[in-house]
Amino acid sequence: MNKNMISWASPVLFKNEHKFVTQALRSSWISGGKYIVKFENYIKKKFKTKNAFLVSNGTAAVHAAFLSVNLKYGDEIVAPGYGYMAAANIGNLMGLNVKFSDVDKETFCSDLKSIKKVITKETKAVVVTHTYGNMQEIFKIKSFLKKKDILLIEDAAESFGCKDLKKYAGTVGDIGTYSFHATKNIVMGEGGMVVTNNKNYAKKLMLYRSHGVYQERYKHLVFGHNFRITNMQAAIGCGQIQNLNQIQKKRVLIYKWYNIFLNLKKIKLQKITNSSFIPWTLALTLNSDKKKPQYILDKLLKHNIEIRKGFYSANRLKIYKNNNLKDLINSDYLSKNIICLPLHLRLRKKDVKYICTTFNKLI
Ligand SMILES: Cc1ncc(COP(=O)(O)O)c(C=O)c1O
Repeated sequence: MNKNMISWASPVLFKNEHKFVTQALRSSWISGGKYIVKFENYIKKKFKTKNAFLVSNGTAAVHAAFLSVNLKYGDEIVAPGYGYMAAANIGNLMGLNVKFSDVDKETFCSDLKSIKKVITKETKAVVVTHTYGNMQEIFKIKSFLKKKDILLIEDAAESFGCKDLKKYAGTVGDIGTYSFHATKNIVMGEGGMVVTNNKNYAKKLMLYRSHGVYQERYKHLVFGHNFRITNMQAAIGCGQIQNLNQIQKKRVLIYKWYNIFLNLKKIKLQKITNSSFIPWTLALTLNSDKKKPQYILDKLLKHNIEIRKGFYSANRLKIYKNNNLKDLINSDYLSKNIICLPLHLRLRKKDVKYICTTFNKLI
């Protein structure tokens, strides 16, 4: 890796991560252990959720959530046509009937109007992904789905710590999931979490996380998986979580610097709707579509700046050819046009200024 490269994401460890990991190692509790319980308890209190379960990663969190709400082979669910495809992948892997709804062109996230077009009497659950930290119309979507008796599953992997109307992303719906991958707001190396207030789902989560076994060893009560995380990963998380306010402050500050240095006349930033936002990346589209993201990416790399293009929308991925792919117009557009600039705690004001002046010249 080029030392001078400004990377798109970069994890930062604070004071206590090393200390806690060393303590976990010294304790010889290297699989399960007290840091897992500590992190879960912290989140239960802070997020005001009755149950929190750490798991091995954000995809495992989605899988565990699907199993715990009893989604079964052939069940119909709706997932966003644009966003990280973990939920759609797991849905297809489980043999669910995954339909895609379009997203809003400005917020880049699911909107109620598009969800309404896709749901049917058979729909069991809708997955809303809070892409890049945006919570979009989550309360509107929630109250609509509640009336229809359809479950709301929040994939909040990219929005850990974001809030709207005093509710944390992931705690609005019936069940919510997070990721603690090295690029996320809180990191554990690999890690994920599921939260829910529903005690039946909680019971199932506990079972599916650990082989379907509850109190009696070797007595499998369901076809359980092993979604467990290690005590060392949770120890990193315990060191991180103490700094959530500081992380938010710095990410918001970087977002403000971008607003100062970017040529805002030539771009459209993702519209953010939540009151308390932790920007995960700096996502935008260009007003003119003459310059494509790949061109910008190649040029910026030559200037030691790493950026990311948008996700592939469902209609652009061959693996989803048998899924419902109708009307994914915005998803398709965003997938081809989104540009994500670096946003992480190591960035200094002069780095953001350099990124912006270089980028402004290209657009
Ligand atoms: C929205 C979303 N969901 C799920 C995941 C999967 O998380 P993990 O990589 O921890 O499995 C990601 C990963 O980046 C994500 O962005």
